[in-house]
Amino acid sequence: MEIRAVAVIGLGTMGAGIAEVLARGGLQVTAIEADPGALARGMASLDASLGRAVARGKLTSTEQAEILGRVRPAAGIAAAAAADLAIEAVPERLDVKLSVLGELDRGCRADAILATNTSSLSVTSIAAGTRHPGRVVGLHFFNPAPVMRLVEVITTVLTGPGAGDAVTGLVRRLGKIPVTVTDRAGFVANALLLPYLNHAVTLLETGYATREDIDTAARAGIGLPMGPLALLDLIGLDTSLSILEILGGELGGPRYRPAPLLRRLAGAGLTGRKSGRGFYDYRAGQPAPAGGQETIHNAATGASPGPVTLISGGAGDTAELAALIGPASPVAAGRTDGLVIVAASDTGAGVLPAAMLAGRPADTVGLHLAAGGRLAELITTRLSSPAAVEAAMTFARGLGRDVVRCPDRPGFLAGALLYPHLGDAVRMVQDGYASAADIDAAMTLGCGYPRGPLRMLDDIGAGRVLAGLTAMHSRYGDPAFAPPPLLAEHAEAGIAFCL
Ligand code: CAA
Repeated sequence: MEIRAVAVIGLGTMGAGIAEVLARGGLQVTAIEADPGALARGMASLDASLGRAVARGKLTSTEQAEILGRVRPAAGIAAAAAADLAIEAVPERLDVKLSVLGELDRGCRADAILATNTSSLSVTSIAAGTRHPGRVVGLHFFNPAPVMRLVEVITTVLTGPGAGDAVTGLVRRLGKIPVTVTDRAGFVANALLLPYLNHAVTLLETGYATREDIDTAARAGIGLPMGPLALLDLIGLDTSLSILEILGGELGGPRYRPAPLLRRLAGAGLTGRKSGRGFYDYRAGQPAPAGGQETIHNAATGASPGPVTLISGGAGDTAELAALIGPASPVAAGRTDGLVIVAASDTGAGVLPAAMLAGRPADTVGLHLAAGGRLAELITTRLSSPAAVEAAMTFARGLGRDVVRCPDRPGFLAGALLYPHLGDAVRMVQDGYASAADIDAAMTLGCGYPRGPLRMLDDIGAGRVLAGLTAMHSRYGDPAFAPPPLLAEHAEAGIAFCL
């Protein structure tokens, strides 16, 4: 069956984006939203998104009008009666989804396909609640739907012949890439992404690093298109919380336990971009600090760092810093003044032992130049003095990298975010959840990663990631950081995850 007319039910962030993608693809779209205010907001956001494309010269205003002309707003599900395909994008709650699917089941043509855009609920359970489960599929778009190329297509044991092929063909016609995934909680991308985002909230909540530093570390240190806190604001904190709860309920384990701060913000209605505030404040257009966060280290002090002595942090690579500072010495070379910088390794023993050995721990901080050339991590120990930290900040800023500050703990900041994320990816492969190729495709096409996590892991080296995770696990004793056996096996055998 060729799909020509589509009904989208729910015109929130995802529904409006999906309606835009379909209308841009030349399909007739009925945009259904029961709440008149939400319908108006959804249509306005669709119009604004098309307006931005016109402003960027990607669409003409005539095309904008034509696309909008293909979208018919409607208040009730009865308007879906003539659709070839109905896609629900209502809130991520099984009771709500079941009720909408039930209405569609009764109101749509017998040969219409019904799709759920659930991001984590069981498509099988949703299908089983309908009278004709054979025509129910999962069609999981990513936010922003007009931009992200991946669509996860989920068929179940109940899906009849034809429905999966028809929606896969449609996804291709829309210029997206369909990837068929198994009906497991979170499918592939969310099952991997959400624990990483949740961990970033924990790092913020526990005062490990500031909001800006966490996001900077992910962008400049890992190379991701957005920081995790900005991404949570984009996805929606309420949506993210629901997904974590569903993942936790199905899979268990500490990585899915929602950080209390996430729950509190979502509960307070600070759901991210859609409400104007989340981790950042969008009410003035540009994200601005939401208040209460310490950002002193982003302000230039202009203070001179004075003489700087480099010492080796054991496993730390001193070459790049030595080129900037001068050769490393085992101790502070007899100097009693100035700053002492430990060339630190994010998988090693940390900065404090070297600082103690140098005999001047108050004057000592660590510096880690993350691979890729864009991030410098400034590591403070429990004994680093405020003056030394300030001087080190001045020095680090002079290196022309983005500088973040973090405590003397395994992984520092970028590694603390990345190593558990890579460990999760390996665990998914190990447990037969998805192949390395599928995981990398999901994260590059669905979340804009420049390289998939398994490719990243191969580039960093399994041994190094194992060392980072092992250090985190032994420091915190948290099972969330336990290295998966498959990672240890790859490190030992010296083999890659990707071909
Ligand atoms: N709607 C439509 N188009 C948008 C958009 C939006 N909300 N935001 C950005 N764009 C478009 C821009 O118009 C621009 O288009 P052109 O190249 O055609 O001009 C393009 O995207 C790039 O935008 P910008 O230059 O403004 O910004 P950027 O380069 O920083 O990219 C981004 C923005 C595409 C959002 C990028 O930061 C990114 O890929 N972030 C990761 C997003 C991600 O991970 N999404 C998945 C979340 S998980 C999910 O959605 C599943 C779930 O169930 C929760």
